[in-house]
Amino acid sequence: MSNSFYVTTPIYYVNDVPHIGHAYTTIAADVITRWHRQAGRDAYFLTGTDEHGQKVYDAATARGVSPQAHADELCQPFQRLWERLEITNDDFIRTTQPRHTRVVKAALQKLYDAGDIYAADYEGWYSKSEERFWTEKDLVDGKCPMSGNPVEWLKEKNYFFKMSKYADQLREWIEDHPDFLRPKSRKNEVLGYLKKEVGDLCISRPVSRLSWGIPLPFDEGFVTYVWFDALLNYCSGVGYHPDDSTEEFEKRWPANFHIVGKDILTTHSVYFSTMLFALGQRPASCLYAHGFWMVEGRKMGKSVGNVVDPHLLIDCYGVDAVRYFLMREVPFGGDGDFAHQAVMTRYNADLANDLGNLAHRSLSMTEKWLGGTVPALDADTERDQVLGALCAETLATFTAEIEQLHFSVALETLWTLVRAGNKYIDDEEPWALNREGQAERLGGVMRRCLEICRVAAILLAPVCPNKARELADKLGVAGFDMSRAGTLDGLTTGHPVPPGDPLFPRMQELPERIQQALAELIPEAAAAAAEKAEAKAKKHKKEAPVAEEEQSEDTRITIDDFAKVALKAGRVLGAEKHPNADRLLVLKVDIGEPEPRTIVAGIAAQYSPEDLVGKQVVIVANLKPAKLRGVVSEGMLLACGGKQIEGLVTVDPEVAPGATVR
Ligand code: MSP
Repeated sequence: MSNSFYVTTPIYYVNDVPHIGHAYTTIAADVITRWHRQAGRDAYFLTGTDEHGQKVYDAATARGVSPQAHADELCQPFQRLWERLEITNDDFIRTTQPRHTRVVKAALQKLYDAGDIYAADYEGWYSKSEERFWTEKDLVDGKCPMSGNPVEWLKEKNYFFKMSKYADQLREWIEDHPDFLRPKSRKNEVLGYLKKEVGDLCISRPVSRLSWGIPLPFDEGFVTYVWFDALLNYCSGVGYHPDDSTEEFEKRWPANFHIVGKDILTTHSVYFSTMLFALGQRPASCLYAHGFWMVEGRKMGKSVGNVVDPHLLIDCYGVDAVRYFLMREVPFGGDGDFAHQAVMTRYNADLANDLGNLAHRSLSMTEKWLGGTVPALDADTERDQVLGALCAETLATFTAEIEQLHFSVALETLWTLVRAGNKYIDDEEPWALNREGQAERLGGVMRRCLEICRVAAILLAPVCPNKARELADKLGVAGFDMSRAGTLDGLTTGHPVPPGDPLFPRMQELPERIQQALAELIPEAAAAAAEKAEAKAKKHKKEAPVAEEEQSEDTRITIDDFAKVALKAGRVLGAEKHPNADRLLVLKVDIGEPEPRTIVAGIAAQYSPEDLVGKQVVIVANLKPAKLRGVVSEGMLLACGGKQIEGLVTVDPEVAPGATVR
């Protein structure tokens, strides 16, 4: 099997600056590249910019500069953003570079000579913004069905690529290569498209209408259609030439993955594959079309004013947190909603609470009780064996999932191990081992916890390269050694492991700049919500005047009264019987504060202490402490029922301890 791994992103139009959508695709490609590099493969990652065509020409004209000067300038924000996002692309291709234009010209000539490109008169409705013709029945209210912009009737000579000739070959290819189009739904989409008759593809634009493009080598009166030009970047970028490809190309082609958004599935699956067939080349092993991000519940767009600037995110959350959120939040392939609150919740739950806590607990206990150096392993107990097996399984599943681009599933798998690490600490009670002077066992337990941190650093490195490095440094491991990623034995006994600063400090509230950005979006949302509430109140008034009157007794509270109660989500870390009261339990509840709260609750009749550990609960956090039968309770647990408790109030799905309940 070849050791080469080749991945691409779309090349982005230089008609605007990059946003989180562009960042998403590029981060995904970077993660999978880093993973394969880490696994010892010869991985190659190409991205770049798409610089020809009407969109770019119009953007340049609007700024009063030449298209080339415009492209020279506007490719830079992409390059700068990739640097800030720690994208490790091996090359950056620009379609105005001679290394690309010469390949496009040679490919056109080859197809023309072979009779796969022909001239014909064409008549139809032309949409300038979409750079394509539509038939009468395609139009919606007489306008372009994609952009809604006006169309004009054009009759002109053009050149066509015989796409129809290769349609059957493509249908067969898709059937014979079940992994070619992914996720699966995309395959069905493309097969649906191919059920209709496939026409030929107009691959030219008369210079009189659009001069900004690669001239056709066989007719100077025309430039190349931007998609025919752009798609060939994946080949030209690794040394393809129809008559004279380099060894590099022979090694890299076909690509392992073209990662694109679902918006450009047809151009990649149908146009590009048929072009490749005509040139005698194979399509990539997989074309993966991921979903789209909305922002705060709405489609992202300039007109809505909600385009998210990736630089703001990096400034406020840090590059690793941004990469983690985008890879973890939504299954790759599905659509997602980018909500700042969700970024903070995810950060606090996964990074600060689960992984951050595991690292901090392991390192600080090692420092406090074991002199701050990696302790030796002791003989495995049954529980240790289970943990070891989980570690091996984590590596296997993580590998399988990430290599299928199932980033969120891979990370969830890793988090199962991280959470198991935290639970291992709770179960083994190192504080008790220390108290009882069981030094050897204490060392063994802490060693396994530190080992889980090491494994987490290795597997997390492609997604969060900086934090993984920081964690590895804390543990005194030099590289991300994959050969030790499935075992709890990879650290060097005796190596100093000072805890240092927490890896992921908890976020108490949204960063101020984010709050400002949200406030700019929210007036509109707030007005809509207020309108809705008013309409609902009016309706309610009409329907139930009596109930309204009855309710106007003084038993009701205002929203300000309610706001005085600070409700917080928490996780029960420990529970035991109250020393002086059968009815009561004494709980240790993590609500995101440095120390867990002690909470005395009258639930001993319904719950045994073991049932409660790990449970998500809701507590009143700003209740004045009170002594209950000699134990100070620092809050109150919410539960249903009267004298008899029927159940505890919890949160679904689980949230980070400390999250506000409203
Ligand atoms: N230039 C063409 C691609 C040519 S590839 C041979 C193009 N460029 S683009 O600048 O419009 O980028 C489109 C790509 O950006 C999408 O396919 C996707 O990868 C990414 N995204 C743009 N908006 C997005 C979201 N809202 N959400 C997720 N990804 C998005 O099309």
